[in-house]
This record gives sequence, structure tokens and C-alpha cells, in this order.
Amino acid sequence: MCGIIGCILDNKKAAPILLDCVSRLEYRGYDSVGIATSGSEIKIKKDKGKIEDVHKNLKLTDLPGARGIAHVRWATHGLPTKENAHPHTDCKNKIAVVHNGIIENYKELKSKLEDEGHIFKSDTDTEVIPHLIEKYMDEGNDLESATRLAIGNLKGSYAIAAISDDEPNKVIGARKESPLIVGKGENEYFIASDAPAILHHTNKVIYLEDHEMVILNEDGILIKDSEGHEIQKEVFTIDWTPDMAEKGGFDHFMLKEIHEQPEAVKNTLLESSEIEKIVKDFPKFNRICFVACGTSYHASLTGKYLFEKLVGIPTDVTLASEFEYSADTLDENTLVILITQSGETADTLKALRLVNHKAKTLAIVNVLGSTITREAEYVVYTRAGPEIGVAATKTYLAQLTAIYLLAIHMGGKKELLEKLNKIPSYMKSSLQKEEHIKEIAQKYRDAQDFFFIGRGFSYPTAMEGALKLKEITYIHAEGYASGELKHGPLALIDDGVPVVAVVPPGRSHDKTLSNVEEVKARGAHVIGLGSSLDDDLKAEVHDLIEFDDEIDEMFSSIPYVIPLQLLSYYISVMKGIDPDKPKNLAKCVTVE
Ligand code: M6R
Repeated sequence: MCGIIGCILDNKKAAPILLDCVSRLEYRGYDSVGIATSGSEIKIKKDKGKIEDVHKNLKLTDLPGARGIAHVRWATHGLPTKENAHPHTDCKNKIAVVHNGIIENYKELKSKLEDEGHIFKSDTDTEVIPHLIEKYMDEGNDLESATRLAIGNLKGSYAIAAISDDEPNKVIGARKESPLIVGKGENEYFIASDAPAILHHTNKVIYLEDHEMVILNEDGILIKDSEGHEIQKEVFTIDWTPDMAEKGGFDHFMLKEIHEQPEAVKNTLLESSEIEKIVKDFPKFNRICFVACGTSYHASLTGKYLFEKLVGIPTDVTLASEFEYSADTLDENTLVILITQSGETADTLKALRLVNHKAKTLAIVNVLGSTITREAEYVVYTRAGPEIGVAATKTYLAQLTAIYLLAIHMGGKKELLEKLNKIPSYMKSSLQKEEHIKEIAQKYRDAQDFFFIGRGFSYPTAMEGALKLKEITYIHAEGYASGELKHGPLALIDDGVPVVAVVPPGRSHDKTLSNVEEVKARGAHVIGLGSSLDDDLKAEVHDLIEFDDEIDEMFSSIPYVIPLQLLSYYISVMKGIDPDKPKNLAKCVTVE
């Protein structure tokens, strides 16, 4: 939800580097920003607002010192105000802390600390942490032991970074249920919420586990377990390059990421033999259960249709946040497939922990070394590269690719690989429709409501089209299975309401076309997606987005969703919204 950074540099000013790194985490939160550096005394600059604006007003890079911590906030406790912006400090302003997560018992801790004389300045849950560290340092503990004692009091989730005036050469990090990585550069050391934030400085990272603590100082990195014993951990080299996390000439990350999709799919297709190996190791399953949130849930819905068709095993799909209420009947004959680009989503992680070792678990994840990859029994990586835009695009298509591969190998249908390998070329022609999509966006940009409809494989595509539009244009949009319309939502169709109908050739085609006629008869403006040879569809729609006739419904999920991503993107830009940072949303949702 929030993003945190800490660093110790060799004779370099920390503030500009902290600002650079924290700007790369802005997708995690953009309510407020703050930096604290340590030297002879802790200096802090922070305020509400986007990083760019706060920096313009406060000159964040002016802070002195070669060590420090930084934070971007996505408000959970307390309004987005200057007082609630991180870093938070103790009573004497000698300790500063940044935090990502939620401290569930903060009210109880706060009132105890207030009884002991601590004065609080914010409404946040986080502020209890510097006060707890202060309390334990006042009792004679050093920063490391005081932090360990402080976090021992916390219930909930946290990734924190802390500094203190009394030990200006140290930055301490700790985590429980919120991500935190350690970066090992040349005489410079980092902690961060994720790897792309520090890729410009190092690609060598260590993944911290829950209850581990890291101590950065000029001599290097020390990692300790919850008891304070030093532990050795593997250093991973990330094969993402820094320019992968840049806009590369595009106006927004989202547009760049939409254009990177053919590459993301091609790279994920290279995982085919790895997936084949994993599948060979599988026992016989009698049930498959997909678990995911948001866009990853839509990928899972496509998985249900594919697995039932190609693998022939009953498959269901559950939203990760609902999983705990329906997981009782899973056993060792069930394969639970968790889909998550970040590998850190709290709901999905909770579902994994609930079912791990009771059923077999396989995670499809984009971020190397993320928490879910370390806990699931089997892992399939999508090769989309870092995704910065809050709206998932290329990771969705990479997830779909991994699901196709899994279904093809589990179902023993290798002959379908030839068709799958053609998808990147279909995607390129979807991207060539950009100018046409811009015209459609211009036509419908002021609509109040949008409906997206489709059947079978096209139903998740409709759902994803509606989610993208809601997220980045703030237009009310609904994704429906077309057959459901007449069971209620049809009452909402009026003159001029745009209905996007996903109608590829295949089994569902004729029925969806009848639904198109139904909405048209009630005044809807229909934007149809279908084959260039589909004259029946052409006759019914107001706007047509055409695709190669070769793409049947089973393989339409990837090429057909691209124009819908572009439609949302252009409406968002036309409305003056920043599609990379939609209001109220964060890229990685690490709270339940
Ligand atoms: O990292 P995950 O794939 O687990 O994230 C799941 C959702 O939070 C995510 O897909 C969200 O819906 C996106 N903002 C969609 O664009």
C-alpha cells in the first residue's frame, strides 16, 4: 500500500537518491511523501500531495546526510495530511520511522504510551512504533534491540525502516506480512518495498522473511532472525534492467506497458518447457481451484473455461478475499492455482497460507522472490518485466499466457502450442488499432455509464474491460455475461448508453449477437469487437473493432482485450486523469 526506502551511501548525499527511489514506488501510494536523513541530527521534510508537487515546494533533496529513509503513503489510518505523512518520530524527534502495513492494536498501544507520558502528533497507527523504540532506548537498549522489542508489541502487518540520532550510522529494517527487500550495491546498501525502486543502484537483492531484521551500516548488511541471531541469506541477481522501469518515451507507464505486451507474451511462452516439467511432477487431481483478486481474478476466470475444456477437471474460481469462507472441502487431490502479479497481495497470501500443504498449491507470479513465490509449492513465473502503472495490463496478458501453457500441458494438448505461438502477431495488429480506438474514446468520453458484455471466454474479457475503465476513468462500468442482461441490468439500458460487446467467432457468437440486438432495440450504442468477416455483427453495431477471422473465441482473450485497455487509457487521458496513478488505488494491496 505504501512504499518505503532506506539507504546508507558511501560519501554521497542520501536525499536525492531517496527521492529517486521513492518516486519509483509512487505507484504504491501518492497521498503524501516524506524523507528523513540522519547526520548530527535527524532532519525531516514531508507533506501531503504527489511527490513532484511536494518536492517543488519543499526541495526534498536539500536534506543533508548520507543515510536516510523515505516513504510514499496510501492512507489507511488518518487523512492524507502533513501530520499523518511519514516519517513519524518519537517525543524528542530523535527517532524516525517509515512503515508499510497496518498495526491492528495501535489504539491500545497508543493509550498505554500516552499514559506513560508520550505525546503523539498524528492520527496514524505507525506513530506508536517510534514511541515504542524511544521507550526501549530510554531503558538502555541500542536501536537494534529497541526496535526488536518494539515490534514484539505489534499485531498486524509491517515493513519498517528506522533511524536514530544516537546511532546515526545505522538504518534498521524489519518485516512481517509486508514486503521488504535488501539491496547490496558497491559500498551502498538499501532496503525497499520492491526491487524496481532500487534497480538503478543495484540488481543484487536479498528477500527478507517475516520476523527477520536487517541492519545496514557502512560495513555492510547484517541480517538477523527474530531472536537476534545472525543469519546468512542468498543474494539474488534480478535480470530486470533499469530502463524496464522507465517510461521510454511514452507519456505514461500504462501506454508503454500496453505496447510491451507482445514481448511479455513471447517471453512467457518461453516458459513452456519449464511448465511441462512442473506438470510431469503432478499427482492426479480431481479438482482445480483458482484464487486471485482484481485483474488476476479475471485471468483465473479464463482459466476456468480453459481448464474445463482442455484438462477436463472440474475447476472453480474464488476471489482471494472470499476464499477463507469456502475452503473447507479442499484436500490433497485439489490443485489450488494462485494468480498474482505482485506475489504480495494480502488476500491471496492469506488464501495460500490457509491451504498450503492441505492441497497442492501453484502460484503464477511476475515478481521474482516475492512472498507468495517463496511459500507456494510450485511456482510459474510470468515474464512481463516490472509493471509500474497501477492498472494491470502486460502482467494480465502474461498471466493468461501462463494459464494457456499450463492447461495445454496438463491436458496433453501440445498440438495447440502452434496456435498459441501465433498470438504475439495477432497482438501486434490489435495495437495497430490505436488511432481508431482514440476516435471511439473521443466519441464516448462523456458517457456516464458503460456496459461490457460477452459469453464464455469473452465474459472475463468483458469484466476486465469494465474494470480498466472504472479504475482509470472513474466512469461507472459493468462487465456482464451477456445472457445475464435480461435478468435485471437491461433495465439500465437507455438511449445512447455505450455497450461494448465482445463477439469473437465461436460457440458463443450467435447468442451474444442476439443480446446485442436486445440492447440496440433499447437505444444502446454498441461498440462491437469481432471478426473482420463477420457481416452479421457489422450490421448491428455503431462502431466496430475488427480482428483477424482466424482468432476464435478460445484464443481471443489476449488480442481482444488490448483495444479495451487502449479505450480506457485514452478516455482517462482525455479527461485529464493520470492513468498511472488513479485516485484511491495502489498497485500492490498488502492489507486485507
Ligand atoms: O498483484 P496482484 O495481481 O495480486 O493484484 C491483484 C489486484 O489488486 C490487481 O489486479 C488490481 O485489480 C489492478 N489494479 C487491476 O488493474
